[in-house]
Formats: sequence, C-alpha cells, structure tokens
Amino acid sequence: ASTLGAAAAQTGRYFGTAIAAGKLGDSAYTTIANREFNMVTAENEMKIDATEPNQGQFNFTNADRIYDWATQNGKQVRGHTLAWHSQQPGWMQSLSGSALRQAMINHINGVMAHYEGKIPYWDVVNEAYDDSSGGRRDSNLQRTGNDWIEVAFRTARAADPAAKLCYNDYNTDNWTWAKTQGVYNMVKDFKARGVPIDCVGFQSHFNSNSPYPSNYRQTLQNFAALGVDVAITELDIQGGSATTYANVVNDCLAVPRCIGITVWGVRDSDSWLGANTSPLLFDSNGNKKAAYTSVLNALNAA
Ligand code: G3I
Repeated sequence: ASTLGAAAAQTGRYFGTAIAAGKLGDSAYTTIANREFNMVTAENEMKIDATEPNQGQFNFTNADRIYDWATQNGKQVRGHTLAWHSQQPGWMQSLSGSALRQAMINHINGVMAHYEGKIPYWDVVNEAYDDSSGGRRDSNLQRTGNDWIEVAFRTARAADPAAKLCYNDYNTDNWTWAKTQGVYNMVKDFKARGVPIDCVGFQSHFNSNSPYPSNYRQTLQNFAALGVDVAITELDIQGGSATTYANVVNDCLAVPRCIGITVWGVRDSDSWLGANTSPLLFDSNGNKKAAYTSVLNALNAA
C-alpha cells in the first residue's frame, strides 16, 4: 500500500494523526492528512476547556469541525479527552470535593451524549499517574477521592455503551518504570473488579529523557494480556529517527491487540514540540521524511 492508513489497514489496524481545527483551511495540511491517515484525534478541541467553557454550557463548534472533516473523508475519530487535570476551564479549576466530582460526571455525560455511537474510542481519563512515584498524580480530581477514575469509566460506559473506553498516559512505555507499573496495576485491578475499561493508550512522546525503550513490545504485550486493547496514541520522536519509528511500528505489529498508531501532528511545523526537533513524519514543507518511508515499509512488511 502507498499510504500509512492503507498500509496499516492490511493488518486490521489504523494509522492516525492529531488534527487542529485552526488548520483545516490549510490545503497543504489537509491534503497530506486526508491522503495518509484513517484515524483522527482532535489535538485540543474535544478537551474540557473547549467543550464546556462555562459550566453546563457545552460548545462543540470546533470539535464538530474536526469530527465532520474526518468522517466526511472516511476516517474514524478517537475522542480526547474527558477527565484530565490539565486544560480544565477556569470554573472547573476552582471546584473541589463533591461539586467537582459531579461536574466531572456531568461533563462526561454531556460530551458523550453529543457523540453517542459516533466515536469508537474515548480517552476517558488522561495522565492520572505521577511521573515518578508510581502512585496517583496530585490534582483537584484526585483530591475528590481515589475512586474518581473508576467513577469516570463507569459514567462513560453508561453514557455510550458502544464506545471503547481508554486510559491514556505518557512515560508508561518502559516496563521497568514505576509509572508503568502503577498504571498496569490499576488496569489489572479494574479488570479484576469489573470496572469497565477496554483499552490503554500509550502516548509515546519519545525524547532523550524518556527514550524509546527496548522493552516497549513487552510493555504493550503485558498490558494486552490483561484483556485490553492497546494503542499508541500520540507518537512523536524528537530527532525523528527512522530506525526508532520502525521499531515502534514493529512492536505494535507484534502485539495482536495493538490496534493502531497515532502520530501527534502531520508536519514538523504542526508539532507541539516545535519544528526544530523534527519529531514527525513530514517536514515543514510537507515532504515525506526518512521516518515516513521507514514506517510505511514496516507496515507493508507485516
Ligand atoms: O488557542 C490559543 C491561542 O488563542 C493563544 O493565542 C495561544 C497563546 O498561548 O494559545 C493557544 O492555545 C494553545 C493551544 O495549544 C492551541 O495551540 C495553548 O496555549 C497550549 O497550551 C495548547 O497546547 C496543547 C497542549 O496539549 C496543552 O496541554 C498542545 O497544542 C497539544 O498538542 C498538547 O497535547 C497533549 C495531549 O493533549 C495530552 N498528552 C500530551 C500532549 C502534548 O503536550
């Protein structure tokens, strides 16, 4: 196959990208995005501050622009994200206790109702674990009680029973890291107790502080063995190593429950990291990089 999406589809997987609503008028951007990818994540537009800027008043203008562009072009959409300590609107940042807990529940219900039956995967909870301890990250949500994550998942299941419900985080790629173990133990516990969770997203933002680990495949496999799908949800590699990109793809392909890969942007100039770090598959002029060819070849070799 000659595109990333079609090549991934040969093994029943998808290849996605993050899309920014503000760039949908850039034809160089949309031409590449439309041609290469068959899964879309809204880079910011489905987050809490975007979809519920005032409490109880939902706004899906930009989220729907992305959803409509994706589906009109034959792509699926990953929902990102319903419960997160970051990118909360001001009103939510100032809540605590039962009022915040209820606001979280109302938010999940409001957003999932809007997209009921239309979004196959939701990042229900994003980045809830601490970067080093293996325990929970301190946040206003965490301070509502340790059960906030399972409440979020139970709420999401009831709101849209057709959606696959994912936990999504970064620095959970290296099997030996405490954060990886913390998330693994949560998923294991949820599966044992029947808390509804269907998938785990590995953001996989690789850089010199959190490099691609040689045990990445083992991490994906160990999570999958708990009975969840795994997905690489926000891939970027600082420096853009073609070899590392191929390793990531081959690791996903080696794990039957690794359902797809999403890169966090189209061109280097679209990356949250800045173009100078060369983290993506297309250069700032929209040309295919060596990493692109390496990914396409790996997908086609499967
Ligand atoms: O839209 C405003 C603009 O009006 C304003 O002038 C400008 C000035 O700072 O800010 C713009 O908003 C920025 C927004 O991106 C859109 O460009 C925010 O400041 C900025 O914080 C925001 O950054 C996003 C970041 O999440 C916020 O947490 C990045 O685009 C986005 O790529 C990044 O994505 C996250 C995932 O959701 C979760 N995992 C990590 C990943 C990378 O940080």
